[in-house]
Amino acid sequence: MRVAIFGTGYVGLVTGTCLAEVGNDVICVDVDALKVARLERGEIPIFEPGLSPLVIDNHAAGRLHFTTDAESAIAHGEIIFIAVGTPPDEDGSADLSHVLDVARTIGRTLQRPAVIVNKSTVPVGTADRVRDTIAAELAGRGVDVQFDVVSNPEFLKEGDAVQDCMRPDRIIIGSDSARAITALRTLYAPFNRNHDRLVLMDVRSAELTKYAANAMLATKISFMNEIANIAERVGADVEQVRLGIGSDPRIGYHFIYPGAGYGGSCFPKDVKALEHIARSQGYEPRVLSAVEATNAAQKERLFELLGSYFEAQLKGRTIALWGLAFKPNTDDMREAPSRTLLEQLWNAGARVRAYDPEAHDEVRRIYGMREDLQLCDSQYQALEGADALVVVTEWKAFRSPDLGRIRELLATPVIFDGRNIFDPQAIESAGLAYYGIGRGRSVARFQERSGPMAQ
Ligand code: UDX
Repeated sequence: MRVAIFGTGYVGLVTGTCLAEVGNDVICVDVDALKVARLERGEIPIFEPGLSPLVIDNHAAGRLHFTTDAESAIAHGEIIFIAVGTPPDEDGSADLSHVLDVARTIGRTLQRPAVIVNKSTVPVGTADRVRDTIAAELAGRGVDVQFDVVSNPEFLKEGDAVQDCMRPDRIIIGSDSARAITALRTLYAPFNRNHDRLVLMDVRSAELTKYAANAMLATKISFMNEIANIAERVGADVEQVRLGIGSDPRIGYHFIYPGAGYGGSCFPKDVKALEHIARSQGYEPRVLSAVEATNAAQKERLFELLGSYFEAQLKGRTIALWGLAFKPNTDDMREAPSRTLLEQLWNAGARVRAYDPEAHDEVRRIYGMREDLQLCDSQYQALEGADALVVVTEWKAFRSPDLGRIRELLATPVIFDGRNIFDPQAIESAGLAYYGIGRGRSVARFQERSGPMAQ
């Protein structure tokens, strides 16, 4: 089929590439001419495993094009995706200006019937606004073109985006148009194997499904972080509790890992946006507020642990960080817990030596060059002369480190494991102190300790 996609961010680029890979003729449009030129040269603006070769191959095969020319893309598309950003406004509501700009552009140039598919995460009711915007532009031109607006939210995860797109758990289609549903069923047929993954519903339910899914996942994480904080105080190990509750299929093992808080481009933004949607309807979303507040507090947890250990004497200390990206397999620093920790450490007068396999460029872009931040070439180099190691992101390469080497390189033998990736006993037998998230009696141990172990 002939497909046009507005927006070459995560969602647009991955969707366009995967649709081209299964044989569709795809044009991706972006207003950023530099980005388009780079994509045309095969330079991918994001780090996403498996994406780069697919973009290059499909571009070479002539099935995937990048352009700033919206009009030609609209003329090309039987199906036109809107996959532009919806960044949060000051009050947390989703900023729809990019989505509505695209709608106006479509209305101004559409010549023949098309299915308009909204993939951006947007407040409930946006598809109706998109439809009205396009209709108003068409009416202004005095033309009568048949079109449908469908909500088809995206559920891809950074780091697994290609896989999620090619093998989706579900394909949500919100539409009341048989014509549009048939077109999307045909488009998604290559990804809709083994059993029917299409879930058909009305447009508003589809829009709410996206927020509900992300808010539910964020809730699981905040809930577990709260249990971790309780475990800490009662002398339990949340990792054992996690296994104990996960074995109940109604709870499940997925997404109940406590840690340094959730970050990324979706959860923080979508929880806030859903709260805003609820309040705009006069409903106070108590659970969502608690999820967000718990997460904000959790992002400060590693700094609190460091503060307790060093008895608030962080000035002049050097702290080593392993991992900066908001999760492994990405260079994305948006809302990353590492940012809260970095900023708190700097405010306290500490210096940071850090290593992340992918995120250094992003960190430099965000913070510039600072003399209290050294980005190191390897995980071990980050430890040289540091007073503590803090694991912030659970990259695979951090999971089985040389403990003897860590012990030798650190000036103070202590590890703060913000993702609970280590076995506390193994760390302690290697002569290092261990503090995790909700594991055993960190708080009690601070109280029991006669003085700081740091010399
Ligand atoms: C998420 C959703 O998973 C995806 O379906 C949606 O389309 C976009 O938002 P993403 O932001 O890429 O995807 O990351 P995800 O892997 O879901 O992780 C989000 C955050 O939660 C990360 O900071 C991660 O470290 C944290 N997390 C995840 C936990 O702290 N504990 C867990 O058990 C799982």
